[in-house]
Amino acid sequence: MREPVREPEPPTREPERADPGPVVPVPAVQPVRPSTPAGATATQVIALANQKGGVAKTTTTLNLGVAFSEMGHRVLLVDLDPQGNLTMSQGLNPDVIERSMFDVLVHKIPISEVIEHREVDLAVASIDLAGAELALSALIGRERSLEKALAEVRSTYDFVLIDTPPSLGLLTINAFVAATGVIVPVQCEYLSLRGLVQLENTLAMVRENLNPDVGVEGIVPTMFDGRTLHSREAIEILEESFGDLVYRTRIRKTVRYAEAPVKGCSVLKYDPTGAAAEAYRELAREIVAAKEARDGAQARKHA
Ligand SMILES: Nc1ncnc2c1ncn2[C@@H]1O[C@H](COP(=O)(O)OP(=O)(O)O)[C@@H](O)[C@H]1O
Ligand SMILES: [Mg+2]
Repeated sequence: MREPVREPEPPTREPERADPGPVVPVPAVQPVRPSTPAGATATQVIALANQKGGVAKTTTTLNLGVAFSEMGHRVLLVDLDPQGNLTMSQGLNPDVIERSMFDVLVHKIPISEVIEHREVDLAVASIDLAGAELALSALIGRERSLEKALAEVRSTYDFVLIDTPPSLGLLTINAFVAATGVIVPVQCEYLSLRGLVQLENTLAMVRENLNPDVGVEGIVPTMFDGRTLHSREAIEILEESFGDLVYRTRIRKTVRYAEAPVKGCSVLKYDPTGAAAEAYRELAREIVAAKEARDGAQARKHA
């Protein structure tokens, strides 16, 4: 915490909860592990994506980022959602922000000019971002705008976590093109495997045309309630379908995750010793360990 946190404006709208669609028993598409790039210790740029709203993308971006930071890593969060929930969750009001990721992507201003130093560094969103897809669509290199913007600061950080909107549009594509990996939060309650297959299909197109190395790095089960058969079944289906891509850490359902953003902070700051904070620390450790295991396997393959 480097600056005092202001009370955030109350969120003006409810988080989106799109129709989850029917649950399909087995996905048609196998997820792909990205191959590790040569510079194994290079900055990890992770897009948190799922085109369904309300699955804890924003919550995971913030709390995972703060957990990485607690471990001593240098962290940048990027708010790529026009709703600006991530920006709000650090006590900033997207409605009064003058320069944001919109200006970075569309007007090519340096990303360093929209980075706020809060619990961790945060490149902020404003309501303008809603017009970014349209403005970008006319530009050459429209899918690479974020990748180019991040080049300026990439070496400053160990982790760049990108929060994406609930769609597979141009903003999310920009995140996939800039990313070294994608982490998919999945709500155990309304599991949509069909949605995951769509996401993987979009990633396959990005791999083919724009970023050959990007793939699903892991799936985070969120809002898990071990007391309900429904939640337990959701995990079973996920593990049957995606195997060890599903992280072992379960993010349980608790109101703590909704309380913290109202105070403008992460759950790790809001309730540092609570189970909700510990869950994201555990996830952070698991992600680092999984990456090390993959890099080790890769190094042995090339030895
Ligand atoms: N593990 C959880 N348990 C209960 N509520 C949660 C949990 N994670 C997130 N939430 C709440 O669910 C809502 C949607 O989460 P959010 O992170 O905004 O999802 P998304 O960014 O995918 O739309 C928010 O109100 C958030 O506080
Ligand atoms: Mg969100």
